[in-house]
Amino acid sequence: MFVSENLDVNEKGNLTINGKDTVALAEKYGTPLYVMDEDMIRTHCRTYIESIKKYYDGQGMACFASKAFSCKEIYRVMQQEGMGIDVVSGGEMYTAYKAGFDMSKAVFHGNNKTEEEINMAADLGVGRIVADNVFELETLDRIAAERNIKFAVLLRIKPGVDAHTHSFISTGQIDSKFGFALETGEALDAVKKVISCKNIDFRGLHCHIGSSILDTQGFEAAAEIMMKFIKQIKDELSFEVSELNLGGGFGIKYVESDDPLPYDEYMNAVAKIVNSFCKENNITRPFILIEPGRSVVGSAGITLYRAGGRKIIPNIRTYISVDGGMCDNPRYILYQSEYDAVVANKASEPKTEKVTIAGKCCETGDMIGENMPLQHCEPGDIIAVCATGAYNYSMSSNYNRLCKPAVVFVNSESDRIVVKRETYDDIIRNDI
Ligand code: LLP
Repeated sequence: MFVSENLDVNEKGNLTINGKDTVALAEKYGTPLYVMDEDMIRTHCRTYIESIKKYYDGQGMACFASKAFSCKEIYRVMQQEGMGIDVVSGGEMYTAYKAGFDMSKAVFHGNNKTEEEINMAADLGVGRIVADNVFELETLDRIAAERNIKFAVLLRIKPGVDAHTHSFISTGQIDSKFGFALETGEALDAVKKVISCKNIDFRGLHCHIGSSILDTQGFEAAAEIMMKFIKQIKDELSFEVSELNLGGGFGIKYVESDDPLPYDEYMNAVAKIVNSFCKENNITRPFILIEPGRSVVGSAGITLYRAGGRKIIPNIRTYISVDGGMCDNPRYILYQSEYDAVVANKASEPKTEKVTIAGKCCETGDMIGENMPLQHCEPGDIIAVCATGAYNYSMSSNYNRLCKPAVVFVNSESDRIVVKRETYDDIIRNDI
């Protein structure tokens, strides 16, 4: 009935998340409100960690790609669950560090890391850096020399795999700003270069083929290509790569027609490839890292809005406005992403209409979605948009000087604020 299995209806006919009444949550904390199911997030972490144990003898690390959802509390949860993290900026590193995260389990990404960020990574003891380009390799080597340390480095490789996803979020193909291309020889040159860097401990390779991917074929193809490259490096340069990071990108169920695989299927699929390749080619099995972001937090989250006015444009469409929009969920205006929505206080009623849920920003394209099936909705109703746990809060903005919503975590016992709602004073805090 609902896209995420943590959603249900209670005796009042209200939508629940992990058993908590969403209408009551909206009353208690106000709207718009991000609600995240902490238990589900933890379950997903355990699934990934277990899958590495089950299919790869535990010789790997699952790292939460924290660009999907970053705040101090999520890093505490990741720490408790034994996850690593992927960070892409000084801001993410700082947040994780301030939350007490063990930064040796952090992997630092990005196609243009600043010197300040690289120094910060060294100061905080970040465990691995994924280098994106030659300029960055030279910078890393120099900074490491200045500090008399060695950076543990992986190289980001474009494996040339087409991931069948939205072009803005597919990254493994040759025309991408991320990483070194295999087919042009750029990647092999980069490996030669990194081996020659005295202050770099070259660990291995990284690839990430894209995001929102609902099958394993792309991952298998990428694993195969990367293993062949590892063999080439061994054969031609006599260097044994010890780590292989296969990135993230595992898709989730946003709408009824999405059919994601159980998350442990990804490790199952790639481990088969890596295990047999190593056996057949007499290669030492690399330590494997994976970086799921969306699939850890996406289905765990919902956003609650209060409905405002209804606007019926005869023979065209019905708009329902909500008290948030592209500022808290820019994914429709960016990618035309589809979502499922429910009138939370009428969750047991049938969806009798198709509406456009419009945000409150001064922008025509500011919508949560078009043609969305919904229960009959009136001003004051609470609308829940489902599966908004990934890339919603993390990509939110203050456009139109709207305050960012609070984030509430619910678990089987309680609910608590983990990010406070912004105030108007927060909005002007840096204004002179
Ligand atoms: N690792 C690397 C190197 C990445 O670039 C990404 C995502 C991930 C892991 C995590 O991918 P995930 O498991 O979350 O799919 N803003 C877009 C998604 C951008 C993804 C960027 N990189 C969206 O809202 O769909």
